[in-house]
Amino acid sequence: MSDTPDAQERIAELRAAIIRHDRLYHVENAPEISDAEYDRMLSELDELEQDHPDLVTETSPTQRVGAKAVSDLEKVDHVSPMLSLRAVREEDEIAAFFDRLRDETGAAVVLAEPKFDGLSVEVVYQGGRFLRASTRGDGQTGEEISHTMRTIRALPLRLDRAADPPEHLAVRGEAILPNPAFQRLNKARVQRGEEPFANPRNAAAGLLRRHDPSAAEDTRLAVTFYDATGIDTDAAPTQGDLLDRLAALGLPVMGARKRCETAAEAAAFHDAQAGLRDDFEFEIDGIVLKLDRRDTRAALGTRSRSPRWAIAWKFAPRTGETRITDIVVGVGRTGALTPVALLDPVDVGGVTVARATLHTIEEVHRKDLRVGDTVRIERAGDVIPEVAERVPKPGVERSDPFEMPERCPSCGAKVERHGPRAYCPAGIACPAQVTARLVHYGSRQAMDIDGLGEKTAAQLVARGLVEDVADLYDLTVDEIVRLDGVAETSATALVDAIHHRQQVPLDRFLVALGIRHAGHDVARRLARAFGTLEALRAASTTDIAEIEGIGPETAESVAAFLAEARNAGVIDRILAAGVSPQPLQRESDALEGKSFVLTGALENWTRAEATEEIERRGGRVTSRVSGQTDFVVVGSDPGSKRDEAQEAGVEMLDEAGFRQMLD
Ligand code: IVH
Repeated sequence: MSDTPDAQERIAELRAAIIRHDRLYHVENAPEISDAEYDRMLSELDELEQDHPDLVTETSPTQRVGAKAVSDLEKVDHVSPMLSLRAVREEDEIAAFFDRLRDETGAAVVLAEPKFDGLSVEVVYQGGRFLRASTRGDGQTGEEISHTMRTIRALPLRLDRAADPPEHLAVRGEAILPNPAFQRLNKARVQRGEEPFANPRNAAAGLLRRHDPSAAEDTRLAVTFYDATGIDTDAAPTQGDLLDRLAALGLPVMGARKRCETAAEAAAFHDAQAGLRDDFEFEIDGIVLKLDRRDTRAALGTRSRSPRWAIAWKFAPRTGETRITDIVVGVGRTGALTPVALLDPVDVGGVTVARATLHTIEEVHRKDLRVGDTVRIERAGDVIPEVAERVPKPGVERSDPFEMPERCPSCGAKVERHGPRAYCPAGIACPAQVTARLVHYGSRQAMDIDGLGEKTAAQLVARGLVEDVADLYDLTVDEIVRLDGVAETSATALVDAIHHRQQVPLDRFLVALGIRHAGHDVARRLARAFGTLEALRAASTTDIAEIEGIGPETAESVAAFLAEARNAGVIDRILAAGVSPQPLQRESDALEGKSFVLTGALENWTRAEATEEIERRGGRVTSRVSGQTDFVVVGSDPGSKRDEAQEAGVEMLDEAGFRQMLD
């Protein structure tokens, strides 16, 4: 096909728009269009480029993914050594740092920044274009990771021309994996029988050092920059100016920063950041203090590997030591058996930890964990605590190695092995599996049935009142009152709650069914694509696999689940009880691109309902206050999120304000 001027023009237009929206979304946290619109532009560009291969350029947004795999990571010499920082934990060492700056340079204006706990990287731009990216390595020489770094949408492949990029620029920063993505990644790895990553930093390193970049997970990585060579001190006399200059070029830089002239001011920033720590999407492990004036830094010089003009003030580590009192085996709703360590309760960064999943038997053996061992517990962000390692205690006798039981601890069925995982095959005949299914069915993200907790569910199953989720609809107040510790009012409330939710959005209903591989995201895609439950039930594996974002394994799992006679019977009985899954509808685009956080109880909506109201108007709800949050809806008895919203200057809505916005 000839390169019509039309195609050329449209390609240029699309590229400019996509680059702009990448920046709005990933760098400025101010998206203007929906993900769907973005995807449409990207696929139009992709199609045009496929028709006109000679118009493809290296910096086209289509070239982020689909870069070729590499057979080895090449060695790369850094433009200048990538130094590390002297790290301290005490305020008096910070006071000494300020004193020295004042003594040696006559002034002590310091810029405080968060210290991100990711993988340090260097990215080189030549003539304003992405040239290469590398890891820090030993500081002098790193490994080339251009192929994976290119997939990070926050990383511009071309610097903003309007900001007049220098001919040669090397920027330094941290590549980081957001905590939610980290959790998803680990879950998927465990499901595939791979080892989970110990923390988000290791995960980022693992993803970036992969030889084959063609995995969607890479696009979840983020990057933030804090240093550069190639911008001289005339152009940016202070650290603050430097960060502004990088931002103007379209590079993501850290948002939080504070000019400090005393250790006390630095301490205030340190404490404020530490307080926000659990709610950041990214791991931060301290703050960094840097002499703000860049031209006086040289006078202070460099120790062997760290500059004398900067210092890291680390947070207290979120780890704790304790003893494994027992290793028990849990049975999930799919029958998967999971070893769980019971611990002497220990405080880990403000959270009491009394149990931790050990994931798989391989994990237990690899870490060589036994009952009675002393272990170190680690917690990253609000990520679930992990047993990081065994702490050897010489001279203390150890118990025998732990082995998985031959029989299901709940129902006694003979355990089956699928790869590294052990399963109880008894399904509906296994009380633990049925209990877990009930709890999941009633959970917030699913049918949102208040009062259907673990204890109640277990009793319903143990007494033979419920064998599958459809049986819930036949329960009477009389039956529930006879359970241990259930008063008449709560029995009535539970029966009401079960029958209250009749019109439920299709995606939640699908989540509630607990189909393997079909979590929230998949359920929503299915609901959007098929509209109604009837249409989905009539679909074949092939039909389902055609949906964007749904792989063959998931499609197979969904189709098989719905076709299976017993499941179909359960679904029919739920529908007969009056439950009516509703097609997803968008009422309007009024909240398009807006991000909400909910805290506290609202009078007129459950959290799930409020979420639905927001999503039906094109907005989204996240669990944490971050730079991307537009509004925090504050109900009664709000949690710490209200204070964080205040701190971060995010707009807050009370219930009346929220209602007004919905109207
Ligand atoms: S400045 C000479 N600023 O912490 C300048 N480093 O232990 C050295 N890091 O290797 C780096 N956040 O990977 C600087 N705001 C920040 C940082 C930061 C994280 C990492 C970086 C460095 C390590 C030092």
